[in-house]
Amino acid sequence: MANFSENVSLKPFNTFGIDARARKFQTFSSLGELQALLKSIGDSPLLILGGGSNLLLTQDFEGYVLKNELRGISVIEENKDHIFAEVQAGENWHEFVLHAIANNWAGVENLSLIPGTVGAAPMQNIGAYGVEIKQVFESLKAVEIETGIVHTFNKEECEFGYRESIFKKSHKGKYIITSVVFRLNKKPEFNISYGAIQDTLNELGISELSIKAVSDAVIKIRQSKLPDPKEIGNAGSFFKNPEVGKIDFEGLKAEFPNIPGYQLPNNVVKIPAAWLIEQAGWKGKTFGQIGVHKNQPLVLVNYGQGKGVDLKDLAFKIRTSVSEKFGIELTPEVNII
Ligand code: FAD
Ligand code: EPU
Repeated sequence: MANFSENVSLKPFNTFGIDARARKFQTFSSLGELQALLKSIGDSPLLILGGGSNLLLTQDFEGYVLKNELRGISVIEENKDHIFAEVQAGENWHEFVLHAIANNWAGVENLSLIPGTVGAAPMQNIGAYGVEIKQVFESLKAVEIETGIVHTFNKEECEFGYRESIFKKSHKGKYIITSVVFRLNKKPEFNISYGAIQDTLNELGISELSIKAVSDAVIKIRQSKLPDPKEIGNAGSFFKNPEVGKIDFEGLKAEFPNIPGYQLPNNVVKIPAAWLIEQAGWKGKTFGQIGVHKNQPLVLVNYGQGKGVDLKDLAFKIRTSVSEKFGIELTPEVNII
């Protein structure tokens, strides 16, 4: 019988720093341990915790919280062009990126400094600076919660989209990802066209491109834009950037001439939610212990003693005001529990 800790504060385990409690809490560091835990839990409510960097806890969790500590990185295959690395789901994402760079495995350098675990990365197909993990994703293994059986999912089966996968849709709450295989490149294909990467490389005085240089530039940009959860509680972008049809975008442009938009395939335009939230008057606003970040209004913050439920209320007020002003419904990126 598993030896669960009881009534455990989750404050150290979520980057918002919300002091919600878990009725039962346990870590797992092997597949066998996880399968045994699942058996003893039965049908009780279950929350899988990685780094807690994409979660908003709005209440105590009246069930079992299992924290993923599966570790290990191994090369399972290699050919002329690629390295296939299998990474256990509890590995820290950024440490894996640094490991890849140290070994000259290219493909994840643009995803430097994203918090959290490798196992949570496919959940929302993490992305930044022009790259998403689906571009280097080969397959993953996941335990079916109901049966304890391990299944393998290839890329198509994961149904990756912008901050989306099958594990947030029809398979939501049904699987625990235990490892991910990445197909990394021996020869880098640099992707430096996004945002300020090129300018930052110039600022850093880098003339010879390398995956380490790209990573350094991405880290510098991220540190200048996003609050460090060690200093101010947050979970990165609270909402996704909305996508609208080209015709709707033209209508918005007529009314709001400065509205930014990025053209995607199929006549779709992505609008920065940060701009919409700033225009709706929320940027830098503080409400007691919580607020909207002063440099990046897409990031909601907890100054220390904030409550999850208040952050959720704030998020929904922001959503309503953006909807009233622009007719656009923002969708949360953060998992609200
Ligand atoms: P958690 O928060 O622990 O979990 C997130 C969800 O996934 C929960 O529903 C949880 O139950 C579930 N889950 C976790 N692990 C597993 C598993 N092994 N199997 C099944 N379900 C699981 N994201 C981006 O895409 N791009 C960014 O640039 C980015 N920048 C960020 C910057 C900051 C400062 C912060 C705080 C967050 C940022 N994020 C970004 C969001 C976050 O880092 C990612 O979503 C990350 O993948 C979450 O990992 P985690 O281990 O912390 O997940
Ligand atoms: N903007 C404003 N006001 C601001 C800040 C930004 O209007 O105060 C507008 C500007 O038009 C700016 C645009 O927003 O050009 C985009 O801002 P930024 O480059 O900071 O990126 P983002 O769209 O807000 C997205 C991701 C981030 C990712 C970065 C870099 C989403 C929801 N967010 O943010 O991911 O790191 O791009 O690629 O797609 C996350 O998912 O948690 C996350 C941090």
